[in-house]
Amino acid sequence: MELIDRLRQHCQARWGRPPALVACAPGRVNLIGEHIDYNAGFVLPAAIDRATWVAVVPDEAPTLTLEALDLGEAAVLSLDGLDDKPAQTWARYPGGVAWALRDAGLEVRGMKAVYASTVPRAAGLSSSASVEMAFAMAFQQLGGWSRSPMELALLCQRAENKYVGVNCGIMDQFASACGQAGQALLLDCRSLTWEAVSVPAGTAIVIANTCVRRELGSSAYNERRAQCEEAVRLLAARLPGIRALRDVAVADFERHLGLLPAKVAQRARHVVVECERTPAGAALLRKGDAAGFGRLMNECHASLRDLYEVSCPELDVMVAAAQRLPGCYGARLTGAGFGGCTVNLVEAGATAAFSEALGAAYTAATGLQGEIYVCQASAGARVV
Ligand code: GLA
Repeated sequence: MELIDRLRQHCQARWGRPPALVACAPGRVNLIGEHIDYNAGFVLPAAIDRATWVAVVPDEAPTLTLEALDLGEAAVLSLDGLDDKPAQTWARYPGGVAWALRDAGLEVRGMKAVYASTVPRAAGLSSSASVEMAFAMAFQQLGGWSRSPMELALLCQRAENKYVGVNCGIMDQFASACGQAGQALLLDCRSLTWEAVSVPAGTAIVIANTCVRRELGSSAYNERRAQCEEAVRLLAARLPGIRALRDVAVADFERHLGLLPAKVAQRARHVVVECERTPAGAALLRKGDAAGFGRLMNECHASLRDLYEVSCPELDVMVAAAQRLPGCYGARLTGAGFGGCTVNLVEAGATAAFSEALGAAYTAATGLQGEIYVCQASAGARVV
């Protein structure tokens, strides 16, 4: 049965009514521009054809009754008591969105909501952002107000930063909010302006899930952010006026490298080069140059592995195996790293053979079972 039908049935069975509305929001894959959003540079994600779906029955009472179908868990939150965070971590995502919307003066009505997702969890495909955005759409529809997708993305990011306590940038919520079918999205993370960039005809985006996740992920993420901030602080002595590593040209970085401790210099080098690589990559995609773009993806992976040090052995195996296969233009880890997924740009006619050979090579090298998805760039969050 389709997910949406299961959710509808659940509303009928639990609350005696069909849902008044159903909303969905996709996960994302990032093609290039990794660990750049919090450095105010450019990122190039696409929304994927896997999403979180939420079905909603309005409730006159000021409460959120939440049921997470995938987890088999339920929670009841009082809208007036959101400052006391729910004990269950999963409930902090919808609860945090309600909190951020109310804090912004937007009306949040009571509801009974059941949700489920086809975005793999903890795999670097932004399942959290998809939950947040799906609920934001539902709250908006029920509240009778309207904000732009980018404004909703910013409110969901705030929920994740301030309520869930994860210090993420804007990329994931943005991609989930603003996705377009068949397009990647080049976002300037400082001005928040963006434009669609077509994925070249005759190519496909293939996602490969290593199905491993390193626990140190979030503390290492915060450490990387802090190192970038330190680099800005130190470089500002010679480059007055810089506000983020995005403002540092590669040539200036080389000139003032001596100001930085070795590790900080290594991290900053990834960022300043990636800040130039991403718009260059978008220009290649616009020209339909899949091979040129693929080379930049490969360079990006090497930089994340060797300089930024956010890869892991399983990701490196998955990337190296892909890069050897026929029809693969480029491969790299996607998202924060430390496990999760790789993204591959593959000749459209080669995807079936590529996926099979990649899965087999990964298992042969690691003894683990990966998962491979051929993915379509998709539309963003919506009420259906
Ligand atoms: C996570 C964060 C994003 C971004 C990426 C790395 O997905 O949520 O904001 O920083 O890592 O590019």
